[in-house]
Amino acid sequence: MKKIRNAIVIGATSGIGRKVAELLANDVIGKVGITGRRLERLEELKSEKPNKYIVKSFDITDLQTTVEQLQEFVVEMETVDLILLCSGIGKVNHELDFDIEQKTIMTNVLGFTNIIDWSFNFFDKQGYGHLAAISSIASLRGNRYAPSYFASKAYNKSYLEAMRGKANKTKSKIKITDIRPGFVDTDLIKDEGNYIFFVSPLNKAARQIYKAIRCQKKVVYVTRRWYLAAFIMKIAPKFIYDRI
Ligand SMILES: NC(=O)c1ccc[n+]([C@@H]2O[C@H](COP(=O)([O-])OP(=O)(O)OC[C@H]3O[C@@H](n4cnc5c(N)ncnc54)[C@H](OP(=O)(O)O)[C@@H]3O)[C@@H](O)[C@H]2O)c1
Repeated sequence: MKKIRNAIVIGATSGIGRKVAELLANDVIGKVGITGRRLERLEELKSEKPNKYIVKSFDITDLQTTVEQLQEFVVEMETVDLILLCSGIGKVNHELDFDIEQKTIMTNVLGFTNIIDWSFNFFDKQGYGHLAAISSIASLRGNRYAPSYFASKAYNKSYLEAMRGKANKTKSKIKITDIRPGFVDTDLIKDEGNYIFFVSPLNKAARQIYKAIRCQKKVVYVTRRWYLAAFIMKIAPKFIYDRI
């Protein structure tokens, strides 16, 4: 496996992004760019390995600033082997509170698309690169508990598939990895109440994600038991699924 020189992790202030950023920092030859809105969390992570991290704090729903900050990473790093997009939000929304739906779409769809498009075009110009993003097991079917979250993850999955097709068609050396976790023990699921099961410890999920990235897998379910859950979700007839 070829060593990664420089990498950027978007959404490294907590949860999956933070843990994978730590694994990268132990492994890469060059630097790991880390982002998120909570600057103090990024500074805290940087203090663990001051020479390894480059910190940039921004909100991915601010589309213009996001592009400017990504460009600044490139200026500082010169080349980037890997961009991992972890930023995302998700909330149960029984009341169909539109504010929740709007924020989810702004982050998981608009912010996501802005970053994926910029990254793909950047890698295309650079001549190579690995673009990885976290969709979810939620990408497979709709769900009444969190409609916009599940729909946004279906969008992520479809968009990443489109990018893979685009890379293949143009014979570019861009690799795409779609990471589809089941439940992982992070802040994102802390208010989910009784709806969660098969929850993976964060370290275990992060290790499996990191391995999948290093192997440049196209699609990975994390943890492994979610391959079975994905199979069942895909084949479950509508009349059963609609009652869950
Ligand atoms: N945990 C699970 O069970 C699970 C399952 C499937 C998929 N996922 C997906 O995994 C990804 C990471 O989630 P997590 O579980 O690690 O949750 P988390 O601990 O809440 O992490 C979410 C990350 O996204 C960043 N983020 C959120 N909104 C942002 C914004 N507007 N601009 C910039 N960064 C933003 C957060 O940083 P700041 O708040 O500092 O900006 C944080 O670093 C998400 O896409 C989530 O949908 C999680």
